[in-house]
Amino acid sequence: MDNLMEKKSSKSFEIKNGIYYYILEQELSWNDEWTKKLISKNLIEGCWELHKSNKYGNILTLKAAEAAKKIIDHGGIILEIGTGLGGGFMPYVLKLDKSARIIISDLCPTVCIEWKKIFEKEYFPKNITYAVLDNCELPFFDESIDIISSCGGLVNIETDKIKALKEFHRVLKKGGIFIDSGVSINNEYLSTLSNDFQNKIKEKFSVMFNDYLTECYDVGFDEIINIEGEKIIDKDPSYVNEFCKQYGIFLLYNTYLRYCIK
Ligand SMILES: C[S@@+](CC[C@H](N)C(=O)[O-])C[C@H]1O[C@@H](n2cnc3c(N)ncnc32)[C@H](O)[C@@H]1O
Repeated sequence: MDNLMEKKSSKSFEIKNGIYYYILEQELSWNDEWTKKLISKNLIEGCWELHKSNKYGNILTLKAAEAAKKIIDHGGIILEIGTGLGGGFMPYVLKLDKSARIIISDLCPTVCIEWKKIFEKEYFPKNITYAVLDNCELPFFDESIDIISSCGGLVNIETDKIKALKEFHRVLKKGGIFIDSGVSINNEYLSTLSNDFQNKIKEKFSVMFNDYLTECYDVGFDEIINIEGEKIIDKDPSYVNEFCKQYGIFLLYNTYLRYCIK
């Protein structure tokens, strides 16, 4: 993917060890603890090992194979947002086409550094670029990206999700697709729990009650295929689940896979 980022970039950047930095190289202070754990416990490598043996899976990847097929069929430049530990849809896409043109991106430099280390040690996909960026200020020209894929990348945006959604719409080409897999807390189930717990969770994790479908329409996607998935009691480690565990509770989540077409 020679010079892809140079051609696509509308903002200044630095390249260090083959990674494009559109924001500062330092980890954000609130990410410090997480990134230390990520490195010391080789968490990304652990996820990749599971991917290789087809054993990786969680509440966000229920329909990942289906989405990956759609991504490959569409083709072009794929921007994986909030790549994180599990890599979002990227590993599923690479399994179908090892030469897919993917930009692995995250706000957290360590995520990009670790994925790059793995792919330089083994697997060697040919057309991967690594970019440390903020979804709320994407460094790409208008209408320059074919697919934006997100496996929990939207619901987990730390800052302004609406600003990020507007950016996704701006940088996608006409006909381009924002493919998003996400979850929200199931209200019906929550209403069976104590009022005290309901109030606490609503106060602490208010964003987890929205599935952002209305907001996807609001930013300009006019054709949206929204597939409601299974409702699942989730026990995997996450900030919400860790919080609920203190009360001996596991929440029921709604899941969705969404194709937002520009
Ligand atoms: C929980 S992960 C999403 C799951 C991940 N796709 C996976 O498969 O494991 C969320 C990721 O989004 C990143 N992130 C949060 N806010 C962001 C932002 N404003 N811009 C870019 N990435 C962001 C975090 O650093 C984190 O790696």
